[in-house]
Order: sequence, then structure tokens, then C-alpha cells
Amino acid sequence: MRVGILTGGGDCPGLNAVIRAVTRKGIVNHGFDILGIKNGWLGLIEGKIYPLDLNSISGILPRGGTILGTSRTNPFRVEDGVGKIFSHIEKFEIDAVIAIGGEDTLGVAKKLSDKGLRCVGVPKTIDNDLSGTDYTFGFDTAVSVVAEALDRLHTTAEAHHRVMVVEVMGRHAGWIAVEGGLAGGADIILIPEFPFDLNEICAQILKRRERGKLFSIVVAAEGAKPQDASLITQTSERDAFGHVRLGGIGNMIAREIEMRTGIDTRVTVLGHIQRGGSPTAFDRILATRYGIAAIDLVKDEKFGLMVGLKGNRIVAVPLEEALAEPKTVDADLYDMAKVFFG
Ligand code: F6P
Repeated sequence: MRVGILTGGGDCPGLNAVIRAVTRKGIVNHGFDILGIKNGWLGLIEGKIYPLDLNSISGILPRGGTILGTSRTNPFRVEDGVGKIFSHIEKFEIDAVIAIGGEDTLGVAKKLSDKGLRCVGVPKTIDNDLSGTDYTFGFDTAVSVVAEALDRLHTTAEAHHRVMVVEVMGRHAGWIAVEGGLAGGADIILIPEFPFDLNEICAQILKRRERGKLFSIVVAAEGAKPQDASLITQTSERDAFGHVRLGGIGNMIAREIEMRTGIDTRVTVLGHIQRGGSPTAFDRILATRYGIAAIDLVKDEKFGLMVGLKGNRIVAVPLEEALAEPKTVDADLYDMAKVFFG
């Protein structure tokens, strides 16, 4: 069999670990030819496809990014994009495609599956907001980055008696903010699922001061929003999947806190630091397990599925189940985080 593999959407630590596992098991155990597709769905549109061998995947396990490159290309928004994909599938004699991505990349995989492409999905996003799996790889690394940043910010916040606002990624879901905030001992965590009240936040900060704690750490997901207000965006432009570029909530909150309380406040936007660099051991293992499971599904000719983690078991779920709706933070977890607010 000839199996193509691609990485689409925002990059994420652990992508190379999946590519390595698919290639290794595909070649060594199943006797397949593995073909790397460059830059997500764009590579299938442009025919940028090349063979992967054991040497091309040697040494990539700890490396962040993706040796295949990525893009946010939506073939359904490119002129004859889908037609070109199917003609390259034929030209390169590709029997199946493993698509590693989040809701956008896997959404395309689902639509192409419906048109006859034999496809298996692997869930990737630091945001951890895909349904059908308890965890996406990359999330654990992002949470570790946030926790380390909060440890560092604690000492400088305490020294200067400041409020530190930390903006983290998380478009529809506040997983990184909640778990990173819990791990790093944040005093307030703001997430898209539960719109916040600035008066309440300021009251919590002032109450903490009265208690003798002269600094506060506030973590805000980029998609968090105040009650009765809309998302804060950087531009009004949308990408090929209709997403606006978020960012700015941290600055807005810091400005308001300083104005309303008179306390010296600073902002740190962690941005793409959360997505770059080496994956944690957890993410390397999860990504490896996903890669092995994905190539085994191809071997068994089971398509239209996404691999996932349920408890500690690797499972296969229909792509539509994974895409039905984003997996968001539930009230129970957020209530637990709130125990440590203020
Ligand atoms: O992968 C999802 C994500 O991490 C979102 O949280 C964030 O809004 C987005 O990527 C930013 O990605 P980029 O800067 O690559 O467009």
C-alpha cells in the first residue's frame, strides 16, 4: 500500500513523533510505502509529495514543528482544489491518507472521505478542544509552558507587588488556561466558556491585598470575553476556515484592572511560545501511540475514523463524532479552579 501523510493547521509539539511512528511501523511492520505530503492539504493540491524512509525520520522525535510543513489551506476554498487533490491521489497512486490536524484539517478530511478519499485522522491541537478524545497531543506541552511561565511571573509579581495578567492560547475552549493556571497557581483564570465580570475580578484582587497578599496572577485565554461584550480580535480578516485572529484580551484586562484599582499591572502574552519547541514525554508517547494506531487502521482498511484517547486506551471514533462540536471546559472543573481564586 502507498500511504500519504500530512500535517495541517497550526503546528504543535508532537507532530514529528506521529510522522515517525507512522513511517516506522508502516515500512518495517506493514511493508508500505510512506509518502510525505508538504504543507497540509496544499501539498496534495500542488502535488508536493515525496517518499519518506527510515533515515528521513531519524532524530525527529524530540523536535517541535513538523518536517512536512503545514498550512491552513482549505481545498474547498481553492479553485478546483478538490479536483486537483483527487488527480494527485491518482498520479502518485496513493491508497490512503493520514491527516494530522485539528477541527479544520479533520473537517476537510471528513468532506473528502465523503467523496471517496480513504482517510484516517489524528487529533492535534494545543487547545485540546476536539471531541472524541480525552487529549490531543501538544496540549500537555502547552500546559507545561504556561505552568513554568507562571512560576517565573510569581517571583517578579511578588517582588514588585504587581498584578500580572498572562494571556494564553485557547480560541473556543479554556483548557490551556484552566490546566496551566491550576498547575501554576493562578489567582484568577478567565476562559471563553464563562464570560467574566471585571468588577468582580477587581474586588477579588483588592480582597487579596487586604489579606496581605500584595500580588496577583490573572490567566486569561485569548477567547475569554467580558459579560455583554464580544471577542477581542487583532484584525477583522478571516482565514480560509473563517477564523478571526484573536489577541488583545490580556492588555484590555490589565488596563481596566490598573484603572479601577490603581495597582501597578503588567501583561505577558505567551503566544506561540506555547506551540514551539520540544514536546513533553507525555506528548511524545501519546503522539507515538496515535501514529501507530493510525497506520494500523490503514492496514485494516478502516477509514473515515480518527484515533483518540479514552481513559488510557487508544480508540477509533468516526470523524463526524470528533467534529460534532468543540470539547469545552465543564462547570465542574472550572468550579474546582475557582476554589483557588482570590
Ligand atoms: O491551534 C489553535 C491555536 O493555537 C489557537 O489557540 C490560536 O488562536 C491559533 O492557534 C493561532 O494560530 P496562528 O497564529 O498560527 O494563526
